[in-house]
Amino acid sequence: MKNRSVLVTGGAGFIGSHLVDRLLAEGARVVVVDNFFLGKRENLADAEAAGGALTVIYEDAADMVAVREILERHEIQDVFDLATKALEYSFENPRGAFQVNTDIALTLAELLRKGHYERLIHTSSSEAFGTAVTRPMDEEHPRNPTTPYAAGKCGADLALLSYMRTFDLDIRILRPFNNYGPRQNWGAFAGVIPRTLDRLAAGLPPVLHGDGKQGRDFVYVEDVAEALLRTASCEAARGLDLNVASGIETPIEELLTTLCEVWGYRGEWDREPRRAADVDHHVGDGTRLEGVVGYRPQTTLREGLEKTVAWYRTRFAREGR
Ligand SMILES: NC(=O)c1ccc[n+]([C@@H]2O[C@H](COP(=O)([O-])OP(=O)(O)OC[C@H]3O[C@@H](n4cnc5c(N)ncnc54)[C@H](O)[C@@H]3O)[C@@H](O)[C@H]2O)c1
Repeated sequence: MKNRSVLVTGGAGFIGSHLVDRLLAEGARVVVVDNFFLGKRENLADAEAAGGALTVIYEDAADMVAVREILERHEIQDVFDLATKALEYSFENPRGAFQVNTDIALTLAELLRKGHYERLIHTSSSEAFGTAVTRPMDEEHPRNPTTPYAAGKCGADLALLSYMRTFDLDIRILRPFNNYGPRQNWGAFAGVIPRTLDRLAAGLPPVLHGDGKQGRDFVYVEDVAEALLRTASCEAARGLDLNVASGIETPIEELLTTLCEVWGYRGEWDREPRRAADVDHHVGDGTRLEGVVGYRPQTTLREGLEKTVAWYRTRFAREGR
């Protein structure tokens, strides 16, 4: 990626900011486009301190005119598309949760079709598959989204596949399973790990929804950033969609048990009913990514949770908690 001019939508978010760190370390010139819906400027503090070629622009990545102007002004070659509104936003504004995914994908596809940049590396989500019908779930698994967010991710995938086929564009789709690590949003719309850590830091017990048997495939965030980088640099990945998965299904009860151990909490848990839209089983088959790109996630769940807890402890201490 050295000297390539790269745009990252959602680059002030969780995964996007880790990708920005890696791109700058590789010597790329990076432009972040983020509307700061959940993104935080502090997520880019390491990138800004590193003194690389970074420009941060507060903009809506679905805005065709604005994004075209940014692509031209910065002579962008590659776009990494990570902008989205979190899955939990589906319960507040289902239409918005769906639409943000399809609008941004279509804007970027149109601008690629018209020759405003060279290649698109789009981030899908395993949520597009819904609950596992076959396990592990490979890239041909049926699309059966359970939330409007997931339906929007699914719609974006289909739109991009159709643009690829119709216009022979250089588009690569990465489909991460459940990601976690430093900088994952811990406020509104937070996922299970940051939400639990936030409660533990506040002296509150963890909350388990349902029976805890619902499984997820957890991938550490730096492994996802690495997979994105390698996919961009691998010509054989052109036109493909690739899962980023550990291949290990961890029941949520087991995740919470390990998380509590790492944090040092031995108390009771609160129990709440299962959330209707939660998928039951989720475990990915990452062999296509490994075969094509030569990469598979490296970090074990225990190692990843230790790094994550260490980061949140520092963060909470800064806030005086
Ligand atoms: N976190 C996970 O477990 C996970 C799993 C699978 C796939 N993904 C995908 O990875 C990508 C990044 O997810 P994340 O977890 O870092 O989420 P995040 O919410 O931390 O980051 C998304 C970023 O997009 C920004 N954004 C939202 N709407 C925007 C818009 N219209 N224009 C510009 N910026 C906008 C937000 O402000 C935020 O900074 C998403 O595409 C997501 O669907 C995430």
